[in-house]
Amino acid sequence: MLVTIPDLLKPEEVAHIRGVLDATQWVDGRTTAGDQAGKVKNNLQVPIDSPAAQELGQIVLRALAASPAFTTAALPLRVLPPMFNRYDVGMTFGAHVDGSIRALPGGQRMRTDVSSTLFLTPPEDYDGGELVVHDTYGTHTVKLPAGHLVVYPATSMHSVTPVTRGSRWASFFWTQSLVKDDWQRHMLYDLDMSIMSIRSRLPDDDPAVVGLAAHYHNLIRHWSET
Ligand code: NI
Repeated sequence: MLVTIPDLLKPEEVAHIRGVLDATQWVDGRTTAGDQAGKVKNNLQVPIDSPAAQELGQIVLRALAASPAFTTAALPLRVLPPMFNRYDVGMTFGAHVDGSIRALPGGQRMRTDVSSTLFLTPPEDYDGGELVVHDTYGTHTVKLPAGHLVVYPATSMHSVTPVTRGSRWASFFWTQSLVKDDWQRHMLYDLDMSIMSIRSRLPDDDPAVVGLAAHYHNLIRHWSET
């Protein structure tokens, strides 16, 4: 399931993040990739432990915590500190699947269930640089306005096409979900969307609304792991 979340960041937050990134130091992105991904990866990243990455990561995490759309799409248990990358002209990331296990600060390991890309450059400012996600329903090409987020299963093969003009900046991060199975998350997401739709037409104490909401929560209780 691929979900787009518009306006995760306000324009002034995007501007602030871009200002900090503009003044920071970038390093070869291969430092955080596994062996296969490292061979097809050609981009730049902000070092994870730099003050800039930590300050900006907090802004992204606050926005995620305040986003009902992210919560219902990802059902997050824990989120790795967001990272920041850029693709200048000629840079690209070939087909790969993200590593399944990553370490949180402090060393605790977590499983990556959901991958996210938060776009930080207006699409008119660069050519190429599309995120291409392959799933069981085919190929999705994603290029979103600055401040918009896309979440997709970390099990998906994906790539970033070469940038041919300008520079594409983004934040990316992984989430361990309370519900590790993508299909179960997908069903819960569809059910939640249907409940929201029916709540716009029926009072919250209508037995149909109460029953569906109970079903949603009991499914999460049944399927979630912590
Ligand atoms: Ni990736």
